[in-house]
Amino acid sequence: MKAVKVSQNVYWVGAVDWSLRDFHGCSTERGTTYNAYVILDEKVVLIDTVKALFYEEFKARLKDALGGRRIDIVISNHSEMDHSGALRQTIADFKPAKVYASALGVQHLKQQLGQDLPAEAIANGATISTGQDSLTFLESKMLHWPDSMVALLNKENILFSNDIFGMHYASGARFEEQERRENWIYEFKKYYANIILPYSKIVSAFLKQMEAAGIKPRIICPDHGLIWQESIPQIIQMYHDFAENKSKKKAVIVYDTMWGSTAKMASAIEDGLAGQGIETRQFFMHIDHRSNVAAELLDAGAIIMGSPVINIEVFPSLGDVGVYLRGLKKQGLLGACFGSYGWSDLALSKVEDLVKGLGAQLVAPVVKSKFAPDEAKLKECFDLGVLAGQKINERFK
Ligand code: FEO
Repeated sequence: MKAVKVSQNVYWVGAVDWSLRDFHGCSTERGTTYNAYVILDEKVVLIDTVKALFYEEFKARLKDALGGRRIDIVISNHSEMDHSGALRQTIADFKPAKVYASALGVQHLKQQLGQDLPAEAIANGATISTGQDSLTFLESKMLHWPDSMVALLNKENILFSNDIFGMHYASGARFEEQERRENWIYEFKKYYANIILPYSKIVSAFLKQMEAAGIKPRIICPDHGLIWQESIPQIIQMYHDFAENKSKKKAVIVYDTMWGSTAKMASAIEDGLAGQGIETRQFFMHIDHRSNVAAELLDAGAIIMGSPVINIEVFPSLGDVGVYLRGLKKQGLLGACFGSYGWSDLALSKVEDLVKGLGAQLVAPVVKSKFAPDEAKLKECFDLGVLAGQKINERFK
C-alpha cells in the first residue's frame, strides 16, 4: 500500500472502502474513502486516522510516507469513529509526542476511546509551527459535529477540511481532476443533503468566516472522497447555494403502494406537475432509499407524499422517510399528499402530519381514493399536481 503525494510535503495515507453501502442511514452506492494526510516538514504531522477496520491499510500507507521518520504530532479534526477509530492503535504503534483536538474533541475522544487517551486541546485560531510551514486551526462546530475543526497549512495553502466538502465516493483516483464531474456531482450533493443540510446556517457563517479571513485554499483535502484542486470555486459556490436553500422548479413525489392504487395516483399527480413545467422525481419507497430522496429534495421546491393505509396507519416506509427527512430540516417546501384506503381513511391524515412535520406548507387537503382510483379520482390527482405546479411557479415570478 503506497502513500499518494498531494503536494511537496503532503501525502494522502487514507483507505478506500469500496464495499460500504450504508453510512449511518445514508446509502453509499459508490462506497467511500477515509482520508488521512501526513505532512513531512521538520516536524511530521498526521491529520486524522481512519475507521478501525481499515487500520492495516492506513498503517501501510503511513509507513510508506514516513520512510522511517517518526510522527511528532497527530491532529484529530473530528472524533467520529470513521476518522478516530484507529487513533488509539496509531498512538500505540507510532508514539507521537502530541495529539491535538479541539477542546470538545478531546472530551469526545476520551469518552469514546478511554479517559487515558493522551489528547490535548488546541485553541480555536491557534497556530503551530511544523518547521518551514505552520498549521492554523479553526473550529467548525456543528459541521457536522460539535467537536469539528479544520486545519490550514499556511504556506502550502492547503485546507484540511474534515467532513466539509467531502463525499462518499470510492475511487482509484485521489484527485478530482482525474474523475469526470458527472461521476461525482451527485455524490457531492447527496453528502451535503444527508450530512450537512441541517447545519446550513452554520455553513453560511463558516464560509463568510473563511472569506473574511482571506482563506482561499489552493488545495482542499477533505476526509471523504476526492481531493479538490481545479473545482474549488465551484464547490464553494455549491455550498453557498445549498446553504441558502436555492431551489429549482422541481417536485419530489414519495410514495408506497400495496395493490398499485397509490402508484397510479402518484403518476397522475406527476402528469399534472410536468404539464406546469415542473421537473419531477418519483420515489417508490418499497425499493428506493431514503437518502436518495433527501438528495433530490435538496434543490426541490415541493414534496408530495402518498401512502396506502395498513392497520389504520400509513405504510411503514413512509414513516421511515418522513422521520429521516424531518431531521434534515429542509426549509421552505410546499407540500401535498394523497393516499388510498379500503376500510377507513383515518390514517391518511397521518400522511398530512408527515408532510407538515417537514415544515412544508400544504397546497391542498389530502386526496383520498377508496380502493383503486377511477377516472374521476385520477383527474383529482392530476389537478393536485397542476395546483402544486402553479404554486411552485408562483415562487419564481
Ligand atoms: Fe466522516 Fe463525521 O465523520
